[in-house]
Amino acid sequence: MVLDAPQALDQTGVLVILRLLCHDNRKKCLRIKMIVFRVVFAAFLVCATVYLITIQYWLPTATPPAKTENCGTGLEIPPIGIGTWLSERDKVAHAVEFALKSGYNHIDAALIYKNEDETGKGIQSAGIPRDKLWVTSKLWNADHRPTEATIAIQKSVQDLGVGYLDLYLMHWPVAFVPGGNRVDENTTIVDTWRVMENIARSGLTRKIGISNFSKRDVETIMSICQVCPYAHEFETHPYLQQQEFVDYHRDIGVKVIAYSPLANTNPTYKGNTKLEPILKDPFWVKLAEKKDATIAQTILAWGHQRGTVIIPKSVHEKYIIENLDALNINFTETEMKDIAKQDKRVRMNNPGKKWGIKLFADLDDPTQLDDDDDKEL
Ligand SMILES: NC(=O)c1ccc[n+]([C@@H]2O[C@H](COP(=O)([O-])OP(=O)(O)OC[C@H]3O[C@@H](n4cnc5c(N)ncnc54)[C@H](OP(=O)(O)O)[C@@H]3O)[C@@H](O)[C@H]2O)c1
Ligand SMILES: *[C@@H]1O[C@H](CO)[C@@H](O)[C@H](O)[C@H]1NC(C)=O
Ligand SMILES: *[C@@H]1O[C@H](CO)[C@@H](O)[C@H](O)[C@H]1NC(C)=O
Ligand SMILES: *[C@@H]1O[C@H](CO)[C@@H](O)[C@H](O)[C@H]1NC(C)=O
Repeated sequence: MVLDAPQALDQTGVLVILRLLCHDNRKKCLRIKMIVFRVVFAAFLVCATVYLITIQYWLPTATPPAKTENCGTGLEIPPIGIGTWLSERDKVAHAVEFALKSGYNHIDAALIYKNEDETGKGIQSAGIPRDKLWVTSKLWNADHRPTEATIAIQKSVQDLGVGYLDLYLMHWPVAFVPGGNRVDENTTIVDTWRVMENIARSGLTRKIGISNFSKRDVETIMSICQVCPYAHEFETHPYLQQQEFVDYHRDIGVKVIAYSPLANTNPTYKGNTKLEPILKDPFWVKLAEKKDATIAQTILAWGHQRGTVIIPKSVHEKYIIENLDALNINFTETEMKDIAKQDKRVRMNNPGKKWGIKLFADLDDPTQLDDDDDKEL
């Protein structure tokens, strides 16, 4: 008796049966071989399809979206840069050129400072090769939407005349309606981070980062990022040390860039607080004498030694050179502990009230929306 094909396939020892069949009927043998071949081929197709669907759709959501391992790595940002906020248009080109010729290789710029074209002239005049320079710029609040963002970074790159940026920061965790300063409730920081990621992929900047974010906002970005933030630029100095916040960034591998490193020395901050100028603070006067350095150098040296990148602004040659020398001062552990006690937890720069938004909510000195004593910015 001859088995029909499906039954034969149900058996173990299919090959034995095949051989038996082939003996007494060559035609039937060929038919059964064809069926076996088709079954194997169909099974192969099914497996291949399942495999392709798996790698296409299932795997990407199964792997964690955050790639935190390369946040603050890959490139080394120079430890000191020259700031350009409020640098007068007719002075900034010379300040930048002088700084670059004196040994700086890092410039902190922003579209909203309205002097990137002049800053660019300074960069050109210094004649430093592009790959020896670090240039940071920032995406303004009114440019968070994709079209505006693309135009904004192209304008910064062109005005600065650098071909590409090393770091592009989201200036604030707040979006404005394009062309104005009304808050755009429809654009979240996650939306904007996706725009930043696409900018990073475009090659117009080597790294992207954030600025003026609260801890919760940083956590939000860390939990969703596909390209992670290289650095976070925020206000920190001896009067607003935020040591825990600085340590937190070290733990997650995001570099800290300390803005307004000279605390209330920036004249714009005059009247924001009741504090005396830090350059007249007896603690710092005494420490500077001890270190045989100027007060500004001593303050900046602390910012450097605690591991933050410092970006003091000046348009005066004397100060520009003086500030660079801060890198040559070292403090003892005891001195560092004494400085830690000088924290006043006072923020100089907080436009949250003006914008009607609670900024820095989980940090020292947050915005008080209902507080009458108006801190103008
Ligand atoms: N991301 C942000 O939101 C943000 C916010 C604020 C600042 N920033 C960046 O951080 C940079 C620095 O912050 P900042 O400009 O607010 O303040 P800063 O650098 O702490 O202080 C600047 C002021 O200190 C003076 N100065 C500089 N060196 C001095 C020295 N050795 N002795 C005495 N006075 C000295 C400058 O005078 P002269 O200029 O007259 O020489 C200027 O008035 C900004 O320029 C900007 O690039 C970023
Ligand atoms: C934070 O906000 C201030 C005020 O608008 C701005 O000047 C500064 O550049 C912002 N910080 C950074 C790091 O962009
Ligand atoms: C935000 O979205 C709402 C609903 O889609 C729309 O009516 C409103 O005009 C949008 N606001 C802005 C500033 O785009
Ligand atoms: C300061 O300390 C660093 C690291 O410990 C060291 O490399 C440097 O030579 C020291 N500089 C001075 C001026 O003592």
